[in-house]
Amino acid sequence: MRESNDILSVVSEYVQLKKVGGRHVGLCPFHAERTPSFTVSPDKQLFYCFGCHAGGNVFTFIMKLEGLTFREAVRRLGERVGIDVSASPETPGEREAREKRDRIHRLNELAMKYYRKVLLKSQAATVARDYLARRGVGPEAQEMFGIGYAPSGWRALITAMGRSGVPPQFLVEAGLAAVATAGPRERYYDRFRNRVIFPIVNVYGRVVGFGGRSLDDSVPKYLNSPESPVFNKRANLYGLNLAAERIRASQAAVLVEGYMDVVAAHQAGVGNVAATLGTALTAEQARLISRYAQRVVMCYDADSAGSAATGRGVGTTSGVGLEVSVAMLPEGHDPDSLIRNYGGDALEKAIELAVPYARYRIERILSSTDVSSLQSRLSAVEAVVAVVADVASEVERAEYVRELSGRLGVDPSALAVDVRKAAAGRRASRIRSGRRDAPSLSTQPEALAAPSDPVWGSKAYLEVERTLIRLAAASRANRSRILEEIGTDGFRVEANRVLFDMMSRRDREGRSVSHAELVDECPEQLRDYATELLSTGGVFDTDMEDLEETLMTWRHFWIQHRLGEIEPQVHEAEAAGNHERVRALMDEQKRLAEAVRGKRTLY
Ligand code: UTP
Ligand code: MN
Repeated sequence: MRESNDILSVVSEYVQLKKVGGRHVGLCPFHAERTPSFTVSPDKQLFYCFGCHAGGNVFTFIMKLEGLTFREAVRRLGERVGIDVSASPETPGEREAREKRDRIHRLNELAMKYYRKVLLKSQAATVARDYLARRGVGPEAQEMFGIGYAPSGWRALITAMGRSGVPPQFLVEAGLAAVATAGPRERYYDRFRNRVIFPIVNVYGRVVGFGGRSLDDSVPKYLNSPESPVFNKRANLYGLNLAAERIRASQAAVLVEGYMDVVAAHQAGVGNVAATLGTALTAEQARLISRYAQRVVMCYDADSAGSAATGRGVGTTSGVGLEVSVAMLPEGHDPDSLIRNYGGDALEKAIELAVPYARYRIERILSSTDVSSLQSRLSAVEAVVAVVADVASEVERAEYVRELSGRLGVDPSALAVDVRKAAAGRRASRIRSGRRDAPSLSTQPEALAAPSDPVWGSKAYLEVERTLIRLAAASRANRSRILEEIGTDGFRVEANRVLFDMMSRRDREGRSVSHAELVDECPEQLRDYATELLSTGGVFDTDMEDLEETLMTWRHFWIQHRLGEIEPQVHEAEAAGNHERVRALMDEQKRLAEAVRGKRTLY
């Protein structure tokens, strides 16, 4: 549909355009101006105003100009070319599923209010109020998180809801009650009894489930809502609804393990904190985070379980392209206990001082090493060798060897030999298992191939990447700006990614970057490509203007690509009656439009 809605013809209905070079310029419809700074480039199918920085594709243009939502803009452009884009009507099954989801959301909301009222008003909740006071959860934090209390007894919620006309079957559907079928007739009972209730709210403000903390030693310590049509533990993060804005503002998300850790952190003013829901961090959760920030600080319990979970979390977060570091808490602490014992500043400090995963592992090994015992030192050597061998950079490995030989009192050259052996072993096993060291020097022939994606594979986009490589080669300032803005993963053509990675690596290692060195160092089959790329295209100055404009173009492609994905997804979600998903997609759509208008962060 976008093809039939060529941006030039759509914009021309609103703006008088004049052709200048490859672009069409006119007076910007989004701000008052006398000299034209509004440009449309038909080959990229994008518009951009150099005056007010409005920009985007044909959909964003219509949305912005007519004040439409994305769906409406899609409809409008559909009408324009005579295509009916209205979603097919709901089937009875879809309708039923949608109504069930709505019902569960409503019931959860009601239950949250009930539990909350009990906590605040009921005589029977004294035990819970005392518990929260003892744990230092103040009234504001309780309010902010909607914390409540499920009283003891088997039918408190069922009875209260029954008074509002809610049958117990619906509570079972929502996971708030269960049914015992043994005996002569069905007996319904509350799921949560004598527990402090933590409502789990998704990023759209919907109550999707609950966690209930026992007040005595009853197990489980935390009882959670079962999975339901609205609750997926592996796709939600506790506290993200409250943390999202702060995560975006601070450009980092802090991940903790427990409900109480989230509450305590927020109460202490550390607001960019969220937690998994009693399961290992999933890629889906990591991607959810990446909507808001590119950086994650893992801040799990300082015990062996927390350390193991940290390792898995590091794998998962870096696996989706997040930059991850690890906060080191004093042994035996979790964020909540750290705050209670040393204050919020201590947590803030720990987050600020977060270290790469390798460093975290090394320090944990050393902290449990008795340096006066040879036995203990030798087992520490073995453990740190494995860690250091995993470090990708040769220079960093050498640094670690020097430092650790000192700290463990062993011969540096012997340690270096061990590390080298272990590193070689690891590389070999990686090759055997077919794992590649992303995004380092893969020497696959497909490195030079253009991506098959319609946006990434377009000629115009490929030229953007090539320009970015040339600009990167021109100055270190450019490289750090590119790294900051799009990262190594921003390059979709592997050859470019490899070249850029080589340059940033040299920067990190304090080595110079010259065209000749790059060409020398790069893998054989990229040599011609690199030579051609770096020696053509004229002299590039290091003018930031040029770089910023190229980055802007890169962003537009990125957005166009994502919008291209969103469009069918909206149709799909709408056809499935999944309103939550439609809303999420449109939310994202809105954010993308905002990003086009000149704000830096896309997510
Ligand atoms: P922890 O056992 O570390 O508890 O579980 P905690 O958060 O420190 O709890 P407090 O401070 O004793 O109150 C971490 C998280 O694992 C999940 C919960 O999400 C919990 O917050 N969990 C734990 C469960 O889902 N069920 C359990 O029985 C225990
Ligand atoms: Mn705890």
